[in-house]
Parts: sequence; C-alpha cells; structure tokens
Amino acid sequence: MFKAKNLSPQKLAGFTALIISAVIALGSLIADGSWQVMLTAFILTFLVSYYLYLYTLQNFIYRKIKLIYKFIYQTKASKREEFFNKNILPLKTIEEVSEDVEKWAIQKKEELDILRRNEEFRKEFLLNLSHELKTPIFAVQGYIHTLLDGAIDDPNVNKVFLKNATKNVDRLCHLLDDLDEISKLESGEMTINKETFVIQDMIKDIFDTLSLKANTKGIKFNIKKGCEAPVAVQADKEKIRQVLMNLVDNSIKYGKNDGHTIASIYVMDDKQVLVEISDDGIGISEEHLPRVFERFYRTDRARSRDIGGTGLGLAIVKHIIEAHNQTINVRSKPEIGSTFGFTLDTGRE
Ligand SMILES: Nc1ncnc2c1ncn2[C@@H]1O[C@H](COP(=O)(O)OP(=O)(O)OP(=O)(O)O)[C@@H](O)[C@H]1O
Ligand SMILES: [Mg+2]
Repeated sequence: MFKAKNLSPQKLAGFTALIISAVIALGSLIADGSWQVMLTAFILTFLVSYYLYLYTLQNFIYRKIKLIYKFIYQTKASKREEFFNKNILPLKTIEEVSEDVEKWAIQKKEELDILRRNEEFRKEFLLNLSHELKTPIFAVQGYIHTLLDGAIDDPNVNKVFLKNATKNVDRLCHLLDDLDEISKLESGEMTINKETFVIQDMIKDIFDTLSLKANTKGIKFNIKKGCEAPVAVQADKEKIRQVLMNLVDNSIKYGKNDGHTIASIYVMDDKQVLVEISDDGIGISEEHLPRVFERFYRTDRARSRDIGGTGLGLAIVKHIIEAHNQTINVRSKPEIGSTFGFTLDTGRE
C-alpha cells in the first residue's frame, strides 16, 4: 500500500512535482489545445518543481533536523551516524523525529533529576558532617580554654575536664574512622575476601568482647534455642564481624536495663542463611524505620549522641551486606524491641 509516512525526500519531491506538473499541463492543454505545448509544460514544470522542492526539503528541513539530531546526541558524526544521517534519517517522518526528541528530553530530565538528588544528598551530607564535627570540637575547645583560664590548678575539676576533653577527641576519632570506612565502601575500594567460617563461633566471640559493656546495663546475651547447631557461611570474616559488632552494640545501646539480646540463625535453603539480632529495648517507630540505614540518621539525636553514636554504624552495615550481594532488613516496635536480620551465603552449590 502507498504510505506517505515513509517517503524519502526524493520520492516526496517527485510526487509533489508530478501533481503540480499534471495540473499545469492540463491547464495548458485547455488553454492552448496543443499536445506539444502540454508535454513541454509538463516536463519543464516537473523538472523545475522537482529540483526546487528537493532542494528546499534537503536544505531547509532535513539539514536543520540533522543539526538537531547532532546537537541532541552531542557527538561528532561517526561512520554509523553518517550512515544514519544519509540513509535512515531521510526516511524518518517529522512525527518520528519528534518522538525521538521527546524520548531524549525524558532521558535528560531523568539525568537532571538524579543530579539534583545527588546535589541535595551532598548538601545534607556536608551539613550533617559539619554538625557532627562541630559538637565534639567545640566541647574540646571549651574544656581547654577553661583549663587555661585557671581550672588547671583546681584539683576538683582539672582531671574531670581533661577526661571529658579526651572523650570528645575519642568521639572525633571514631567519627573519622567511620567516615573513612564508608567512603572506602562507597568508592568500591573495599574488596570482599570470602572464607568459610561457623557463624555461631563468631557470634559467641562478639558476645564475649561486648560482655563488659552489656554487664553495665544488666543485658544478657543468648543464642536462640534450636539455633545452636554450627552453620558454616561463606563471607568476608572481618567485615561480618564488623556487622555483628555494630548490631550487637546497638542492641546494648538501645536495649533496656536487664534486657536480652538474642541471636538466631536460620538455614533458609541450601544457599542462604538468615542471621537475626533481636533486643527488647526502646524499639524504633514506624516513621523512622525506613531511614535507619541512612548515613547520620538517628531516631533521637540527643539521646544517641549521649550514648556516643555517630549514626554511621547501620549505613556501614548495609554497605557491607550489599557488597556481599545479600540483604538486610529491620522489624521493630517502640518499647517492645528491634530485630535486625541479614542473609549470608552458605557457599554450597
Ligand atoms: N537496636 C536498636 N534499637 C533501637 N534503635 C536503634 C537500634 N539500632 C539502631 N537504632 C536507631 O538507629 C540509629 C542509627 O543506628 P546506627 O548504628 O547507624 O548509629 P549509632 O548507633 O547512633 O552510631 P554508631 O553506630 O555510628 O556509633 C540509632 O541512632 C538509633 O536511633
Ligand atoms: Mg550503631
């Protein structure tokens, strides 16, 4: 079937010239009655209007479209593009070109949205970072000035002020370590060195390391009944130790006095194991739940800062788990407790 849609400029010019010359030839035949004049008029009109129309089409319309194409793709014409400009573009209708441009515009808008979001993220990150740095630095500054202004000779406060200053310096170091860690993880610099180990052994080890801290709040550690049978996992041992340290440390910090931290290990199938750390502490309300893995996010800034958090722990944990191509999630209810669960590979085929 005849399709005007896919006509090339040559065919379009030929078709239009044919109509114009037919009309003029018919007119001359009616006016003059001579077949020779009509034929000459037909040939002359056809040739002139064909080349004029083709010239206009190619020079004023297709060249401009080609320019737009080149502009939106922002590339010098490669061999492929030259082929495209010569053979495919002339076949495209204005509607198709407009569709392409629309697609391009949508793609650019998406790119812009991502850039804008990143910009927001960067601003928020800088704001948070300067805030996190300011608090301990100002505290240290305050203690040192007070000491220099005479408190150094007051045996009642000099040691206390020095201890407080040290505590804040330690916090700064902790923050810098975490930042270093997170930037390495985000830039993909961190490599995952997988080895096989028994997850229960690691959990017991971490319980031992953190037992002093847990004792101060009377918190008891346990591996859930039925989950004691050793389960081997394949992962980066040091990184998973860091994940568990963070989760168990949080269960103490945000746990209630005389509470419990329970570790559960479930073999899901041949390939995956689910490890959960649960506490019966303050919990997290629904509005905060989706955001606890964000950098610097704390549900209660003042309280978390009092207990020494930077809000980077869970962000690091999430990065580590995702670098293993595994997932982490949280379930929690205020005043009832929280459960953080992550999956690990068994290494079995
Ligand atoms: N087990 C938990 N129970 C209740 N709230 C929690 C628990 N774990 C984390 N949170 C909340 O999530 C926030 C983010 O936790 P995250 O571990 O990232 O930071 P942090 O413990 O404050 O500091 P950091 O781990 O860097 O020392 C915490 O400030 C706390 O509000
Ligand atoms: Mg933490």
